[in-house]
Amino acid sequence: MLPRANVDISISIARMQSTLADFARSLPKAELHVHIEGTLEPEMMFDLAARNGIDLGFTDVEAARAAYSITDLESFLNIYYQGAAVLVTQRDFHDLMSAYLHKAHADGVRRAEVFFDPQVHTVRGIDFGVFMAGFRSAIDEAEAELGISTALILCFLRHLPVADARDIWDAATDYHDQLVAVGLDSSEVGHPPDAFAGVYERARELGLHAVAHAGEEGPPRYITGALDYLGAERIDHGVRAEEDDELVARLVASGTPLTMCPLSNLALQVVDRLEDHNLKRLMDRGVKVTINSDDPAYFGGYIGENYAATSEALGLTRDDLVTIARNSLEATFASDTDKAKWLAELDEYVAARS
Ligand code: ADE
Ligand code: ZN
Repeated sequence: MLPRANVDISISIARMQSTLADFARSLPKAELHVHIEGTLEPEMMFDLAARNGIDLGFTDVEAARAAYSITDLESFLNIYYQGAAVLVTQRDFHDLMSAYLHKAHADGVRRAEVFFDPQVHTVRGIDFGVFMAGFRSAIDEAEAELGISTALILCFLRHLPVADARDIWDAATDYHDQLVAVGLDSSEVGHPPDAFAGVYERARELGLHAVAHAGEEGPPRYITGALDYLGAERIDHGVRAEEDDELVARLVASGTPLTMCPLSNLALQVVDRLEDHNLKRLMDRGVKVTINSDDPAYFGGYIGENYAATSEALGLTRDDLVTIARNSLEATFASDTDKAKWLAELDEYVAARS
């Protein structure tokens, strides 16, 4: 048994840690890297499958979870694309977005910039209007009821031919004004960003912002390519930037934010242990890092949990956490007025807990 003094010390360390984790969880923040299809919880997957008469091939949620064998990005994406097949009606897309926005709001999210993968749906014969209307009604409802601000980022699937990306961009014509940015996702290695320069240019000409997944599993030159060929203003993940000092210096000089997703990187074995994650090292070198959830239904935690777990694993201080939340709000594509409002809420939150 521990002597009394040691017991007291370990109790107060545990209390400090949990207080810091709670502080992190509800900090006012922005979520800049979440795939709406990756928020599909197994329970909802079963409900929607039943509603739409789809046989998932599993008897219950536990059997489905047990069948998930996720060891890297490719093995995850296979499961993720299969799961999305239960999303059919406007109501399904509404319910999915609504459930996510309620969870994000509970984690202190003031602004969510949410990815969606239209090609995953149109290939199954679902019209653009169906998912956009479902997303829109949930977004408007959440803004009115919870005050959360949401913007949509259309992602191109990089493992498919660039002609498909051009086609989906054309199919989205009626909805271009409902988008804040375009993004690039799916299997990274072997699919460098260069080929997508033309379709990104068309989006940028309309005034849309540009982001891209890069340096999750792919090499640092994919990050350089996303900056040079796509005009990416944020890099999604960017973990492998650390391998290239010149690139890190460039990210620091340009203030380009990285939308990092620590629990995703752990689940997909980009890192072996959360303690090894390079978020804090990059932050200490001056990179604008942010913390996000990626595909929370699959990776064991929404954004609050990502903040809490990363804080604990990397020994982040209160000031570190505030800097990360501030980075996230500053890195949004929202108006300066909205940003100033959320940053003031962050300052108030911190002052009230000093
Ligand atoms: N699509 C959904 N999650 C993704 C990830 N982590 N990387 C690339 N594409 C994705
Ligand atoms: Zn992602």
